[in-house]
Amino acid sequence: MKTLVILAHPNIEASRVNRRWKEELLKYSDDIAIHEIYKAYPDWNVDVPKEQELLEGYDHVVFQFPVYWYSYPPLLKKWFDDVFAHGWAYGSKGDKLQGKRFGLALSIGDKEENYRPEGSVSFTVDEVIAPFKASAKHVGASVLPYFAVFGSSFQASDEHIDQSAEQYVQHILKYQPYSVS
Ligand SMILES: Cc1cc2nc3c(=O)[nH]c(=O)nc-3n(C[C@H](O)[C@H](O)[C@H](O)COP(=O)(O)O)c2cc1C
Repeated sequence: MKTLVILAHPNIEASRVNRRWKEELLKYSDDIAIHEIYKAYPDWNVDVPKEQELLEGYDHVVFQFPVYWYSYPPLLKKWFDDVFAHGWAYGSKGDKLQGKRFGLALSIGDKEENYRPEGSVSFTVDEVIAPFKASAKHVGASVLPYFAVFGSSFQASDEHIDQSAEQYVQHILKYQPYSVS
């Protein structure tokens, strides 16, 4: 498989966007692997060697999650803290993520027009994801353009979410290693 999706949703059964996106990804199981960390670690006790070994098998890794407080759901933050360890991800001997390509797939509750300097959020999505970009740089990975759906709290219709699911898969395939785009 060419792409690993790390999916972090604390309650996927109650989700509209991430659940629908997951359904769509499952249709491409030859090319895309999904790892649901809230399912793998209900006790939040992340198996670090296992996660590191999983990551070592992929050049293209997409982190998919709902934006919570302009950041990650908390288990994903812990997963980064635990898995991106000194001596493995960074430090003089930590080179295992060097050259990998990271993507983000974000469901965002608020409207797109609010994610502007003059909007109610005041910051763009690119500014909101700056910690992720800095972290990727720190471990030698590159960051691909993010994929997002806005208005996911209330406004997004089922049709819009269905359409976003298809666009999401196309987005992933476009950035897979060896794909011609
Ligand atoms: C604890 C919490 C914090 C949230 N913080 C934000 C936020 O900072 N910005 C935003 O646009 N939406 C925020 N939302 C809305 C979620 O992003 C939205 O509910 C989610 O993307 C919907 O995806 P789902 O249908 O897969 O659950 C928040 C929701 C929750 C529950």
